[in-house]
Amino acid sequence: MSDDLDTLAEQIHTILRMAPGSAPDHRALHAKGVVATGAFTAGGGLAGRTAAAHLVEGTVPATVRFSHPGGDPGVSDVLPSARGMAVKLRAPAGSHDLVTVPSPAFLARDGASFVELLRARAPDPETGAPDPARMGAYLEAHPEALPAIEAVLTAKVAASYATLAYNSLHTFFLVDDAGRRIPVRFTWTPVAGVAHLDDASDRNPDFLAQELADRLASGPAAFDLVVHLGTDDDPTDDPTAIWPERPTVVAGRLELRAIDPDAEPIIFDPTNVPAGVELPPGDEILALRRLVYGHSYANRTA
Ligand code: HEM
Repeated sequence: MSDDLDTLAEQIHTILRMAPGSAPDHRALHAKGVVATGAFTAGGGLAGRTAAAHLVEGTVPATVRFSHPGGDPGVSDVLPSARGMAVKLRAPAGSHDLVTVPSPAFLARDGASFVELLRARAPDPETGAPDPARMGAYLEAHPEALPAIEAVLTAKVAASYATLAYNSLHTFFLVDDAGRRIPVRFTWTPVAGVAHLDDASDRNPDFLAQELADRLASGPAAFDLVVHLGTDDDPTDDPTAIWPERPTVVAGRLELRAIDPDAEPIIFDPTNVPAGVELPPGDEILALRRLVYGHSYANRTA
C-alpha cells in the first residue's frame, strides 16, 4: 500500500470527523443505521461464472446494515437523501461484504479530488452553509461528479429501507474455476418495488428503523442480487463512470427476517471478497475506502 494512499485516507478521515454532528463513537459517515439478519439463497444464475460457491448455490446467513449517508447519528429520516445498504454474506469459505447505495455513481474518481470536494462543500464559517461558488468551481473542474450530484439534488424521502435499489458503483471481477474473469457490477433490487414518500410530514425523525421492524414482524423483506455483466470496454477503475445498460442475471435472493440490536460493533469492508471474486485493479476510491473505514472503525470502537 502506498504511503500516499495512507496519508490521503488519514486526511479524509480527519476532515470527515470535523463535520458538524460527527460523533466519535459512531461511523464517520453512515452514522445512523439499523442492522437486520437473514439469509441469502443463490439461484444458480451465476453458475459457471464464479468459483465463489455461495453465489452459485445454497443458502448462507446474512447480516445487513441500512443507513443514512451522513456523519450525524441524530439526522432525521424525514430529510430527502440517499441511504446505504451494507451486506455481509457469511459463507463457509469466508465472509463477503457488498456495500451499496442508491446513487448511480460516486462523487469522485480518485482520492485527491474527493478531498477537494470535501473542502469545497465544507460549511463557510461565516454563513454556516457551503459556499455555492466553491462547489460551482469544483463541478466545473470535475464534470465526472455531476451524475452523483444530480442524484443528491433530486433525492426523495425513502418510504422504507426495504424499498430502495442499491448499487455497487465499483466494478468487481467474477473469476471461474478455469481463471476466466468477467467485469460485473451489482444492484440489490427490492422485491417489494421501489417507493418514496411524496409527503413525509406525518413521519417521525426515526421512522425508518421502526418501519423496518414492523415490516419484518409481518414477513421477510427481500432483495434480489442483480448482476450486470460487463464487457472489456466498460470502465472498471472509475466509480463515477456509469455503464451502459448491460445484460443482467439474478444471482439469488436475500431475505431479511429480524432486527439485530446486538450486531455492533461490526464493519463492512467493500474490499472483503472471497475467492471467485476479485477487486478491480486501479480503482483508487475502492482502495481508499478500506483504509478510511478502518480509521473510522478504530475511532468508533476506541
Ligand atoms: C473515498 C470514498 C469514500 C469514503 C472516504 C467513504 C467513507 C465512509 C466511512 C468513513 C464509512 C464508515 C465506516 C465504518 O465506520 O465502518 C462509510 C460507510 C459506508 N459507505 Fe462509504 N465512503 C466512500 C465511498 C463510498 C462509496 C463509493 C459507496 C457506495 C458504493 C459507499 C457506501 C457506504 C455505505 C453503504 C456505508 C455504511 C456501511 C455500514 O453500514 O457499516 N461509500 N463510508
